[in-house]
Amino acid sequence: MDKYLINGGIPLKGKVKASGAKNSALALMPATLLSSGKNIIRNTPEVNDIFTMKKLLTFMGADVSFENHVLEIDTDSLNTQVAPYEHVKKMRASVYVLGPLLARYGYTKVSMPGGCAWGPRPINLHLEAMEKLGAKIELEEGYIIAECKKLQGAKIHFDIPSVGATGNALMASVLAKGSTQITNAAIEPEITLLAEYLKDMGAHIDGVGTSTLEIEGVDELKAAEVENISDRIEAGTLLIAGAITKGEVEVETTNVNHLTSVLKKLEKSGVKVFLKNNIININASELSIKNVNVDTSVYPGFPTDMQAQWTAFMCLADGISRVTDNIYFDRFKHVPELNRLGASIEVDKNSAIISGVNQLKGAKVMSTDLRASASLVLAGLAAEGTTEVLRIYHIDRGYQKLEEKLRSLGADIQRVDTEEF
Ligand code: EPU
Repeated sequence: MDKYLINGGIPLKGKVKASGAKNSALALMPATLLSSGKNIIRNTPEVNDIFTMKKLLTFMGADVSFENHVLEIDTDSLNTQVAPYEHVKKMRASVYVLGPLLARYGYTKVSMPGGCAWGPRPINLHLEAMEKLGAKIELEEGYIIAECKKLQGAKIHFDIPSVGATGNALMASVLAKGSTQITNAAIEPEITLLAEYLKDMGAHIDGVGTSTLEIEGVDELKAAEVENISDRIEAGTLLIAGAITKGEVEVETTNVNHLTSVLKKLEKSGVKVFLKNNIININASELSIKNVNVDTSVYPGFPTDMQAQWTAFMCLADGISRVTDNIYFDRFKHVPELNRLGASIEVDKNSAIISGVNQLKGAKVMSTDLRASASLVLAGLAAEGTTEVLRIYHIDRGYQKLEEKLRSLGADIQRVDTEEF
């Protein structure tokens, strides 16, 4: 088991390139199940969630190689449509195989994902979408069994623009018979990329990038190649690392517009932000952090996946700020840990009320989930003295060698093997 040892207080300086996005790769990988042949996904991050999805696809008979951030997935010899509990329990995104397998084989059996580290995360919208497309769904011994000889196009309206349910509905409907309309669809860049990839595979989709997707089913898809986008959440985390340490940091991404909501909030907090092509530059060397409230919402709003990191940043702001999570009402496991570092935060329903303090102080803290752990690293980088972040396997699920990127910016952060849990 690894932990981080961070000696804080060093202003970060330098350039860093964001890795490929975890959440788009996690949708693109199951999309390969829709065709036979060799699919290629470039710019894939080497993080544990990707290795988990690789294992699941390999279990299903896909031939998967992963070198230099390039995934080659050959789906010629798939031999099962079952996603077992052992794989799905490690990662909820495994439920993305539901739509493609059902569409291509007319049958799938996928373990129910269960809760996640910070609370319940239902999949009712995924299942309702499959039912709309004509699938018969049964729940048996913790498994979803979905069947339908040939899916039929349908009108699917999401009450909540769920990222995962939009991805699943899209992957199912591209091989359904006739027309499908998905309204109130998610418009996150990861879903837009998925739709573009499906089009490259031969799918007929209109309205890509908007909340209404019109799909005309085709009989089959062919394998294709895709270049993944940068991870906007990793990029945002690195920018806050620069800001919270009063440094000067440059982050290269594939599309700076994916971060607009975060950059606007950074500017409001007093950080100087400069954009040039695909590069984001921030200067916080003379920063006195202003308190800035944040309300998370769906894209292009402020992402819930940046909520914990923003909360860490506001711990050192002048005055009181309120960070409200409207996507996940109970995603605040980082709060007691940040308070161990000297922060002053109270949780009120789905908001963190943060009273800024002058200084955080190093302590031992525990990671509870991916983004919560990132917030502890950020706080540790700014804190006086040494911070130990335990259970960083959570970080390794979604950040590619975060400590190396931070060290390249001058941070004093080490990964250490420990018996502590
Ligand atoms: N929801 C339902 N029913 C459903 C699906 C979702 O009620 O069937 C609710 C959720 O409980 C939540 C809201 O809808 O309140 C939005 O959830 P969504 O389905 O959009 O989330 P997801 O697809 O499960 C993806 C990311 C998450 C990210 C969310 C929101 C992947 C693999 N995961 O999850 O990423 O927080 O969208 O943007 O794409 C992370 O990377 O740390 C992470 C958790």
